[in-house]
Amino acid sequence: MAEVPQPPLRHLLTLDDLDAPALHNILDTAAALRSQQSFAPPEHSRTLLNLFFENSTRTRFSFEFAAARLGLRVLNFDVEGSSITKGESLRDTLQTLRAMRPDIVVIRHSSSGAAAYAAEVMGEAVAVINAGDGFHAHPTQALLDLMTIRDHRGGFDGLALAIVGDVRHSRVARSLLQGLRVLGVADLRLIGPATLLPSHPEALGARNFTDLAEGLAGVEVIIALRLQNERMLGASLLPSAEEYRQGYGLDHERLGWAAPGAFVLHPGPINRGVEISSQLADSERSLILRQVENGVWVRMAVMQMLLGGDAA
Ligand code: CP
Repeated sequence: MAEVPQPPLRHLLTLDDLDAPALHNILDTAAALRSQQSFAPPEHSRTLLNLFFENSTRTRFSFEFAAARLGLRVLNFDVEGSSITKGESLRDTLQTLRAMRPDIVVIRHSSSGAAAYAAEVMGEAVAVINAGDGFHAHPTQALLDLMTIRDHRGGFDGLALAIVGDVRHSRVARSLLQGLRVLGVADLRLIGPATLLPSHPEALGARNFTDLAEGLAGVEVIIALRLQNERMLGASLLPSAEEYRQGYGLDHERLGWAAPGAFVLHPGPINRGVEISSQLADSERSLILRQVENGVWVRMAVMQMLLGGDAA
């Protein structure tokens, strides 16, 4: 049967609509942009609106850098200085901003589903990119993680990968696991105290391990996650950060439990001395700053894709 051509993607809310060729296409575009190193002169004819209802350093600024390299004008919505402080609803805020006709809205929000809601309110007129919604998804983080792994390893064949830490509250883990499954990675391990692991890892294509040494055996790529105190809602999920470090903190000695040459990623921000030692975070076995660098290229690629390949 002939393949039905897919309509171009209008929003990027999760990795749900991207199959393996589409994922590789974004990573290839990002890599081509990286090697090109020169871009069209800024025309400021399109506008990106950053709507960050939660704090961010990496995601927000890499969208700004990506937009600047593509010649887009960037406007940053200041939640504290907005009429939200007077009680204006999210819906009214989004409708008001839509009436001003941005081309792209990048949204981060503490509520899972907020990005899909923004896409519903904005409709087809505006491309919406999810920059992280609650526990749910962070698709551009997953894309930059995939790019960093692919760069370093040359591909995904036979990969064994572990995510260590607060997987239960992690939108980063959820999106990355989705991308890795689509790319055919079968050996996916989640390591941490039972209170921070998903109760149905098989639904994510993964296996849970509460013992760090057992989970790391034979693993080539380790993703360390931050303890997300702001999402634990005051629940006693951990005795203390120090006990977490004793059980699950990564350092050079523990990296030796993984496959020879294994390397570590972390989405940031990092809690030095809790989920990762400073020595390891700053070593050649850490790809943390490569992730940050790749974040700009993948966000440029995503924006080009959503704007139909014409960013300026
Ligand atoms: N990885 C990530 O989302 O970092 P920020 O919170 O700094 O954007």
